[in-house]
Amino acid sequence: MLISPQRKKKLDCKNITWRLYLLFLFCGICFGEDLGPSECHREPVNRFDCAPEKALNKAECEARGCCYVDDSLGKEQPSCFYPVNYPSYRAVNPTSTENGYSSTLKRTTKTFMPDDIMTLQLDIAFETNDRLRFTIKDPIQKRYEVPIETLCVASKPTDMQYDVKIIEEPFGLIISRKKNGQILLDTTVAPLLFADQFIQMSTSLASNFIYGLGEHLTSINLDLNWTTLTFWNRDLIPRKDANLYGTHPFYVAMEEDGSSHGVFLLNSNAMDVILQPAPALSWRTTGGILDFYVFLGPEPKTVIKQYQDVVGYPFMPPYWGLGFHLCRWGYTSSTLTREAVKKMRDAKMPLDTQWNDIDYMDSYLDFTYDPERFGDMPEMVNEFHQAGMKYIAIVEPAIGLSSPHGNYQPYEDGLKRGVYVTNENGQPVMGKVWPGPTVFVDFTNPEAHEWWYESLKNFHDKVPFDGMWIDMNEPANNVHYVPVDDCPDDTIENPPYVPKVVGGTLRDTTICASSKQHLSSHYNLHNLYGFTEAIASHNALIKIRGKRPFVISRSTFASHGRYAGHWTGDVESTWEQMYYSIPAILLFNMYGVPLVGTDLCGFVGNVTEELCVRWSQVGAFYPFMRNHNTLDATAQEPYVWSKESQDAIRDAALKRYMLLPYLYTLFHKAHTSGDTVARALFVEFPSDRNTWTIDRQFLWGEALFITPALEEGQTEVKGYFPAGLWYDLVEGKKIESKGEWFTLPAPLSTINVHVRGGYIIPAQEPGMTTEESRKNSLWLLVALSASGCAKGEIYWDDGDSLDTYKKGDYSIVLFTAQDNTLLSEVKQIEPEAEKLKLDVVTVFGVAAAPSKVLVNGATSDNFEYFPKTKKLKIEKLSLPVGNKFEIKWA
Ligand SMILES: *[C@@H]1O[C@H](CO)[C@@H](O)[C@H](O)[C@H]1NC(C)=O
Ligand SMILES: *[C@@H]1O[C@H](CO)[C@@H](O)[C@H](O)[C@H]1NC(C)=O
Repeated sequence: MLISPQRKKKLDCKNITWRLYLLFLFCGICFGEDLGPSECHREPVNRFDCAPEKALNKAECEARGCCYVDDSLGKEQPSCFYPVNYPSYRAVNPTSTENGYSSTLKRTTKTFMPDDIMTLQLDIAFETNDRLRFTIKDPIQKRYEVPIETLCVASKPTDMQYDVKIIEEPFGLIISRKKNGQILLDTTVAPLLFADQFIQMSTSLASNFIYGLGEHLTSINLDLNWTTLTFWNRDLIPRKDANLYGTHPFYVAMEEDGSSHGVFLLNSNAMDVILQPAPALSWRTTGGILDFYVFLGPEPKTVIKQYQDVVGYPFMPPYWGLGFHLCRWGYTSSTLTREAVKKMRDAKMPLDTQWNDIDYMDSYLDFTYDPERFGDMPEMVNEFHQAGMKYIAIVEPAIGLSSPHGNYQPYEDGLKRGVYVTNENGQPVMGKVWPGPTVFVDFTNPEAHEWWYESLKNFHDKVPFDGMWIDMNEPANNVHYVPVDDCPDDTIENPPYVPKVVGGTLRDTTICASSKQHLSSHYNLHNLYGFTEAIASHNALIKIRGKRPFVISRSTFASHGRYAGHWTGDVESTWEQMYYSIPAILLFNMYGVPLVGTDLCGFVGNVTEELCVRWSQVGAFYPFMRNHNTLDATAQEPYVWSKESQDAIRDAALKRYMLLPYLYTLFHKAHTSGDTVARALFVEFPSDRNTWTIDRQFLWGEALFITPALEEGQTEVKGYFPAGLWYDLVEGKKIESKGEWFTLPAPLSTINVHVRGGYIIPAQEPGMTTEESRKNSLWLLVALSASGCAKGEIYWDDGDSLDTYKKGDYSIVLFTAQDNTLLSEVKQIEPEAEKLKLDVVTVFGVAAAPSKVLVNGATSDNFEYFPKTKKLKIEKLSLPVGNKFEIKWA
């Protein structure tokens, strides 16, 4: 790394820019444009918006020292933009520190934003060989910083993969990859602005392939054609160009040579990120500090892991949480809820967890149940438990008042204990949600965590629920769209820059930004609301049940995966939304939230039978699988459809149950090493550029490949198969790909799933619940590579106890196949796995019919060879998984 003393040259001097600049100049002459001073010569894609907060005309734009060119070339390309010499900060005497650099940054000219902070402090820390962090903050007045626990094991790096250059004036940072000089970040492309309520930093991007910056309705790679991504958590039916439920200011970027890096801005204020085709990106946030982490990868997998080294690895879900969940808004009584379960059983559909939406509550109040319609709710839940099932009911963060409901003790207790968000007069902020007038729990207050736990515990003493569904926690307010209490008219409510939020104001469909919380203002903490509720709920569940917590939340923030999962909210029952569920799920896996799913068959609107079948098929491969429906939509449970459709849905669900040992092993790897469970193709095959945009197919881990049908009336599906061997999960039919597209039959009866050659997948005879299937025999699917090898493993424990891995109460058995031999190696064994017996081994890609099979040296007749597909099936093995075994075929 270098501290560069050189002043930045007046013009961006990359060769390419020069050439385009000349071209632009030439074109400018052609079109007779008034180009202004030479500082204004910037090709359109390299213009950075100098009128972020409102539209300006030429005179207004020039009055703030910016360039104005209205050539209307593109949709959001700015006509008012920064000149090359726009006054910015100057780095004053950058100095080396023990593991990085620091510098004062000084600005002498004010910007157009109020309250510029004229002196800043830059600190760069080389945290590991692959990770650096830099912060820019006010050295005098402490500003708000995101209160999340970041797990930094900063050891002094010995072989850093990056170079850092500080450009002194105008101030900028250039971070590059040491081995090839690839520039990862170059913040000299536009000036740094740092005012009290407006902070902007821009950077070049290493390629056009950028992934992340959720939660938005997008394809897997982001559109860089002047896209604004807004972060301000909000209750909204997912749609494009809108701020949605969660905030994850993290992206992964591919580099031209297939390497990748990641960038995380730890900031929770209302924010916009602008992507432009330069390619470049601008962070624009309305508060806090700049706190950046840069991850050097170089594989996308390692970038994702390095990110999770900072925000934390995901929690380990209970095994039952990976089963099928059924819910709808509209099971308005315990009778109807029981009926749904019975119909599932009668239709022989697997079902692990039955849910209720707000229907169960008494007057929509938390911690209550309706004495009439749900009078026997405790008995109902006990019955589910006896049937080997679990039960989850929705919980809201908006608490109804006693009036008009009579004495409502949880509200009264909370009031006494001061657990609610307050207004400037210290009174609880009032809103309107399901129970009518409500107050909002402040989950940044430790006392609120105690109160939350006690209230849940009291309810659990009556209704022994197993997990929590936390909804409306953006927080949503004013759902009936009546006017809210007036928010004060100040710069917190109406900041000088309002990100492109739906509704145009920060208060829209939520509480006033000026509301006060224990740790800071709601202005700063809004995006953490659901996340802090998830922490409180996670911890409460542990204390109440003494088992693994299972929390599914609508709103999320970076680090959420440590505590809870996510469902993608109130999606519409459309083909388009079904497709968008795939990038959504893959991206949440990249954010360290692997337990994620979209409502099967969609939530809003009526689903068609065909769409519901297709959605159930792809949904069987969401890490979290729940069918959920809105109040006024027609029924969409698996049992309402024709026999053919029911068969198709059952087939997909049973495939999932069969594969649960593999899925559970993947969750263990996510929990212990930051791997993804549902995995984007580019994450697994970054050197194959064809994979960089694929989001209609996805993997489970390394070895299972899902190619769903996502279009109406489809009978065939086109899929891209990276180079290698892929075997159909059921038949074993082989695809030998050099990295090509294939057309596969896609009848409504089934979904295409392939096993990757070279891998062994642990599976199990499926049951109707996970409790049942966990008692069944184990199966192994062995998919041989071209050289006849394969490997795999199983992680197993009791599926529900806390910290089994930490305590050593788990088993790991490795499997390898080569030279016509399958071997097991027991790494660790505990009593749970001793009950497991391996019964069936299916080997895909056995070239010729074996004449004999030897199991631990003894001849076995229980095998069958399928010459057409070259599949070998060996049965009736009855081998205890805890003992090493050897199976040979010859
Ligand atoms: C970017 O958007 C504009 C306007 O919508 C369109 O004309 C142009 O073709 C797009 N460019 C690319 C590269 O997609
Ligand atoms: C859904 O179907 C029901 C019953 O047929 C109908 O009343 C309702 O209008 C439909 N909803 C939509 C959004 O089409």
